[in-house]
Amino acid sequence: MTRFTLPRDLYHGKGALEALKSFEGKRAIICTGGGSMKKFGFLDKAVAYLKEAGFEVELFEGIEPDPSVDTVMRGADAMLKFQPDWIIAMGGGSPIDAAKAMWIKYEYPDITFEEMCKVFGIPSLRKKAKFCAISSTSGTATEVTAFSIITDYNKGIKYPIADFEITPDVAIVDPDLAETMPKKLVAHTGMDAMTHSIEAYVSTAHTDYTDPLALHSIVMIQRDLVDSYNGDMEKRDAMHNAQCLAGMAFSNALLGIVHSMAHKTGAVFADHGAHIIHGAANAMYLPKVIAFNAKEPEAAKRYGHIADYMRLGGNTDEEKVKNLIAYLRKMNDDLNIPHCIKNYGADSYPCDQGFVPEEVFLERLHDIAVNAIGDACTGSNPRKISVEEMEKLLKCCYYDTEVDF
Ligand SMILES: NC(=O)c1ccc[n+]([C@@H]2O[C@H](COP(=O)([O-])OP(=O)(O)OC[C@H]3O[C@@H](n4cnc5c(N)ncnc54)[C@H](O)[C@@H]3O)[C@@H](O)[C@H]2O)c1
Ligand SMILES: [Zn+2]
Repeated sequence: MTRFTLPRDLYHGKGALEALKSFEGKRAIICTGGGSMKKFGFLDKAVAYLKEAGFEVELFEGIEPDPSVDTVMRGADAMLKFQPDWIIAMGGGSPIDAAKAMWIKYEYPDITFEEMCKVFGIPSLRKKAKFCAISSTSGTATEVTAFSIITDYNKGIKYPIADFEITPDVAIVDPDLAETMPKKLVAHTGMDAMTHSIEAYVSTAHTDYTDPLALHSIVMIQRDLVDSYNGDMEKRDAMHNAQCLAGMAFSNALLGIVHSMAHKTGAVFADHGAHIIHGAANAMYLPKVIAFNAKEPEAAKRYGHIADYMRLGGNTDEEKVKNLIAYLRKMNDDLNIPHCIKNYGADSYPCDQGFVPEEVFLERLHDIAVNAIGDACTGSNPRKISVEEMEKLLKCCYYDTEVDF
């Protein structure tokens, strides 16, 4: 038996934020990030709509990008004091993910972070509150997914919490919120979405329910992402839907080792002055992982379907895979994303000498490979991978060298 889970309601289209007016309950806590939602007036609007619906409203603001375990615990304390019956998470993937984890801790105050990270091991939620997610970036699709990514800064590792219990009850996909994104965020979150669709399509857990969502979002992203990056607001709006469809696919089909590697490299070089931003990490690693996975004939066939769907040409699976890799690398160029960690500057743009020194990378390589293999996303990758192969693959992602194994 296979389960396919999505939010009960999804409001989309310009002005969809207004759906908050129809919510029923007593107390709503709005969890949000560092200020973009306030600055652009969306937070005030959300508060006003909820008050119009008769709610007492409290704010939990300032959730940082790549949220920490500490922030989750603080947010849960605020919820325990306020006792909301609705949790409204608003912003990018970071505040929404943090709010999902806070929700678990609010419902089960004694649960530890380690217990939360047991894959598909979360006890039933919704005894105290329901959850609404309102996304302001076009990539993570956390508004419809069963995942939350929390960083343990003591270990320098991102941990995915995965369970359909944390799939939100309501998702609001209002493109007005995405129109204020700066270009770099459009690029990173957009390539995150592309990675979600492609990994979902070739995942060992893909089904007839997830395939159409994955394929359709791939062609939408192919059609709209670069133009959205260059300022076309109609394309920006379409991308907000595309990333959400990608999320519906991967929440139910799971992901693969592009994400395992992104999770385990994102924060591990933070002591050298920066993060490798999630979407940029995916964009750099995706072509390498496709080359690795395509050595498995079934995966090559499915990458071939993707290339056909994108009308990239090619007669054999091998040619189609090559064309797909070339196309994705060209997208990275168009979006000003580097091809490898060596050239990844602290500002995320390509440069000759990136912020991760070679000796530091090599010193940490083995541990990163072990952690990546242990990541929750590795199990559904279409080709099995050993620690030794993972080290080789990570080296290709550092130096931008050919994957020939
Ligand atoms: N839960 C999932 O299924 C899932 C999937 C992929 C990634 N993630 C996680 O999500 C996080 C990344 O989320 P993200 O890429 O959405 O970015 P983010 O939430 O970290 O936000 C990045 C920055 O953009 C700003 N911002 C957000 N929306 C804006 C807007 N509309 N206009 C202007 N500025 C805006 C934020 O204030 C912040 O400074 C990572 O921690 C990643 O691991 C989660
Ligand atoms: Zn992702």
